[in-house]
Amino acid sequence: MGLHIYKNKELLAEGLAGWIVGNMTHVLKAQKRYSFVLSGGHTPKQLYHILSAKYKRAVDWNRVDFFWGDERYVPFTDDRNNARMAYECLLTPLGIPSENIFVMPTDPTPQEAALQYEITLKKYFGESAARFDLVLLGMGADGHTLSLFPGSDLIDYTGQEWVKDTVNQKEHLPRITLMPSLINASENVLFCISGAEKAAPAYQVLKGSYNPSVYPSQLIRPESGAMWFMDLDAAEKL
Ligand code: 6PG
Repeated sequence: MGLHIYKNKELLAEGLAGWIVGNMTHVLKAQKRYSFVLSGGHTPKQLYHILSAKYKRAVDWNRVDFFWGDERYVPFTDDRNNARMAYECLLTPLGIPSENIFVMPTDPTPQEAALQYEITLKKYFGESAARFDLVLLGMGADGHTLSLFPGSDLIDYTGQEWVKDTVNQKEHLPRITLMPSLINASENVLFCISGAEKAAPAYQVLKGSYNPSVYPSQLIRPESGAMWFMDLDAAEKL
């Protein structure tokens, strides 16, 4: 587990952007494409702005394929939609071709959308093992990540699906989410977390006893360990 702590959220976004661009540059010397799973929520917005404004010429972005870790079940036109935010802050400013962007559908039923996205991923990776180059995750103040919420029936789910539908009980909103087994098979998995409200759950996730039904972020255990990019406020209790 790599812990990267920055003085404030601005420096956190700058530091993480530098790490991501460095990794993309290194990986793209050895392979043709780079698969990048984006996170939703508010935290990554500043990171996306920096990547699109400061690093537009630093990366051959046409060789990067974009996916999502989860999606709120609202239309793309709804400003809660994670893909919409990424388009606004990152994908449109970088001019990413639509064929390199794999949005989670929010028009069929949630169950159908999860099935469709799994088919999309299996077409991209083949039926065998999917291995994203980078998964960017956030964490909620309740310790959730992706759309894996405390008490969810997905916490102990043992099925083989890569993508599942669920419901955020607080928002009464259906969600689509990648499953931990798929995330944990990825090359690089990192959390980007800022703010004092994340300090207590971050401590429990990283230092507390293993209790994923309360702290679902503990389900994220990739082989090489997850990296944690945090500001001082979020890392205060570590
Ligand atoms: C979402 C995200 C979710 C997010 C956390 C943190 O759709 O909300 O996928 O897992 O990463 O809720 O969100 P903030 O960055 O807004 O605190």
